[in-house]
Amino acid sequence: MAARPGRAGRHLRAGGQAGLHRAPLCKGRGGAGTVVAAAGAPPPCPGTATPCGSSRGCGNTRVVSDLPRSGYESASKHFNPADLEVNVAGKSFLITGSNSGIGKATAKEIAKRGGTVHLVCRNKERAEDAKGEIVTETGNQNVFLHIVDISNPKEIWKFAEQFKNEHKLNVLINNAGCMVNNRELTEDGLEKNFATNTLGTYVLTTALLPLLEKEADARVITVSSGGMLVQKLNISDLQSGSETFDGTMVYAQNKRQQVVLTEQWAKTHRNIHFSVMHPGWADTPAVRSSMPDFYQKMKSSLRTEAQGADTVVWLAVSSEAAKLPSGLFFQDRQPVPTHLPLASTHSPPGDEEKLMELLEEFSQKFKSPSSGTQQHG
Ligand SMILES: NC(=O)c1ccc[n+]([C@@H]2O[C@H](COP(=O)([O-])OP(=O)(O)OC[C@H]3O[C@@H](n4cnc5c(N)ncnc54)[C@H](OP(=O)(O)O)[C@@H]3O)[C@@H](O)[C@H]2O)c1
Repeated sequence: MAARPGRAGRHLRAGGQAGLHRAPLCKGRGGAGTVVAAAGAPPPCPGTATPCGSSRGCGNTRVVSDLPRSGYESASKHFNPADLEVNVAGKSFLITGSNSGIGKATAKEIAKRGGTVHLVCRNKERAEDAKGEIVTETGNQNVFLHIVDISNPKEIWKFAEQFKNEHKLNVLINNAGCMVNNRELTEDGLEKNFATNTLGTYVLTTALLPLLEKEADARVITVSSGGMLVQKLNISDLQSGSETFDGTMVYAQNKRQQVVLTEQWAKTHRNIHFSVMHPGWADTPAVRSSMPDFYQKMKSSLRTEAQGADTVVWLAVSSEAAKLPSGLFFQDRQPVPTHLPLASTHSPPGDEEKLMELLEEFSQKFKSPSSGTQQHG
């Protein structure tokens, strides 16, 4: 997309962006100076590059101006409504975690525009309810359900093998995500946040790339979080086993990894358009259950699920999005930097490529030649 004057390449900056916090440094309440807190960084200290060490933060953050919803409202004044006035009938979209929140809101918007929608969800009952709601509200019958646990790499490989044989795919939306606050392991012995947010995203995307490669204008969109801005890529402890476990920081690290994945894929798969995004703070079940204190403080100013989904939808269907370079990080339909000014979150040389190698090793361990998945209508 041709850059809109004065808006492209903008920086996430204190008080100027949806969901941004300005936080005093964690070292000492009311200390001199402030640092820019990350958009979407969960409560207080995550805004700083040097968190205070408390999983609950130091309590010093305050939102200075753009609250999540008002940030959206001001950003959306610059949106071009025509960008989303498209018919995507005949195109196939796969959305993970689409029974709820941002994923379901995205699925509805795509279904309204005529797209074939594949919902990939882990819980059959919740997924069937969501499918019914999407079909009823949009009148689009081309909504299909696949039951897959994104924290289970074996299941993902099997699902993808079968999906490739039966469907085409134009757009993959990696939306499923979690913030598990205690260190829990999956049945494969993988730390759950890593398994879902990072490895699941890697395996599903890798497995479906050959299908996407067949299409013109293929896209992959990953729903990350501005919370990642507080984290430098750490490839030495992907499963967070060596230090005191802090679910907020583990989540932020996973979301940083999703940004790196997107950048790396963009370099190696030139005919697919990759993007990664921050939805802003939206009122969803994940925010309510994973961050109850934050939710209580912020609930009156959170974005709606549809507002959180807006940039995902824009990246998925608009021709404007595809005109921008592949591999960028977006908020409110605009590319934004992946590092805060003065933050020491840049990776040392080689770490980003090494992450890809490590994930490839992990993913191969779970690959099996057999296929078969549960597809429900
Ligand atoms: N809401 C925000 O303000 C915000 C901010 C930054 C980033 N995000 C990101 O936005 C994405 C969507 O979250 P949301 O806020 O819309 O929350 P949500 O409504 O709770 O949606 C999360 C979805 O992911 C699914 N999911 C979680 N683990 C899964 C697994 N192992 N396998 C398959 N599906 C799984 C959930 O399924 P179940 O219903 O079965 O649990 C649900 O459908 C996440 O990646 C999140 O990190 C959200």
